[in-house]
Amino acid sequence: MSLPNEMTFGGGAALRGRLRVPGDKSISHRALLFAALADGRSALTHLADGDDVHRTRLALEHLGVGIRTARGGEVRVQGNGLDGWREPVQVLDCGNSGTTVRVLSGALAGRSFLSVLTGDASLVQRPMRRVVEPLRAMGATIDGRDGAAFAPLVIRGDVLRGVRHELVVASAQVKSALVLAGLQAGGITEIAEPGASRDHTERMLAALGAPVERAGERVVRVRAGAPEAFELEVPGDPSSAAFFVVAACLTPGSSIVLERVSLNPTRTGFLDVLRRMGAAIEVTETTTVVGEPVGDIAVESSALAGTTIAGDEIPNVIDEIPALAVAAAFADGVTEIRDAAELRVKESDRIGTIEQELSQLGVDVVAQADGMTIRGGAPRPGTLKSHGDHRIAMSAAIALHALPGDSTVRGWKAVASSYPGFAEDLRSLTSGSK
Ligand code: S3P
Repeated sequence: MSLPNEMTFGGGAALRGRLRVPGDKSISHRALLFAALADGRSALTHLADGDDVHRTRLALEHLGVGIRTARGGEVRVQGNGLDGWREPVQVLDCGNSGTTVRVLSGALAGRSFLSVLTGDASLVQRPMRRVVEPLRAMGATIDGRDGAAFAPLVIRGDVLRGVRHELVVASAQVKSALVLAGLQAGGITEIAEPGASRDHTERMLAALGAPVERAGERVVRVRAGAPEAFELEVPGDPSSAAFFVVAACLTPGSSIVLERVSLNPTRTGFLDVLRRMGAAIEVTETTTVVGEPVGDIAVESSALAGTTIAGDEIPNVIDEIPALAVAAAFADGVTEIRDAAELRVKESDRIGTIEQELSQLGVDVVAQADGMTIRGGAPRPGTLKSHGDHRIAMSAAIALHALPGDSTVRGWKAVASSYPGFAEDLRSLTSGSK
């Protein structure tokens, strides 16, 4: 899909009807990777259609994994186990995708060939030591820019040994990399996290028969092994759903249902935050796929009040903070966001970019090292920028949508990373056609 670089939003039309958001990005990356580790053919539907997941697919293809899209969109992966992976001829370009570069590094650390991973201007500035150092402790040989603090990373795969890791940051990407390294290592790999990051890797691999288990709160234990081939319809992405949930809260007369969304409890913290702010949200769990709960989210327009988002809640809502900041800007009273320094090393420095963009709307925002204070009130229309960050672009869109007139989001193309069809889906809900 070719996307324009500017898009206009505004007018406050109510959101009504039902929508199925694209497949969850985290689950889609993992589905492709785990299918590529399995021995046999896997079939995946409703994979996320953004560039990030496409980068994981391309990297796996460069590693010799057979992947094709059948008529109707089903993606078929012919896995031959990790031993079937081959030294890539090309540099693996991970684009904007932190999950691709970090998680794939864990899988490649145990392969006996050379791989080079890089990415776009944003990705090569994001911290890699957090994944490189624990992989080195397992015996991996990894070099890279500034001592492998940043991509490009050069991985010369080696025989790995299981060790116990005490992670310094709660990161699902790092945890997942170490799980994939642990599946190839001798002995036991244990990963202890300081906070509860999303747990798709543990849930999915355990459901697919791989030797991955929880060994106490925030500890994962892994032995050598592999998942079985599988079929999966990827549930909708709650992080994408979050933009419509907030938009429906903010625009009077709205009433929507987001269908078949992942309700993994490590991802739904934003619903708790919004409920605390006064949002009318109802969740109905309908099924479970590869250990992942799935269901519908119903939302109606609601008057919101400020809240505090801090501590253990942060890893669960980290990707939704841009959308929650928009909710806070329209809410009555003050919202405090704390303990969220990780926002500074996402696709953009999200503390800085949220502060800058909400200020353009006349909102009183004060940034701190690890969060921000937002005094809600009456935002006014203004021209906003994405800063090359998909979630900042969509947050800008829902803020402007709730305001009068038409205003522009510059750098709209950034939505390609996770949700190229976002503007059409918003339009479909506001024109009553779905
Ligand atoms: C992701 C984990 C999170 C999240 C990112 C996707 C994943 O990052 O912010 O968008 O798919 O594992 P962390 O690794 O910092 O938890």
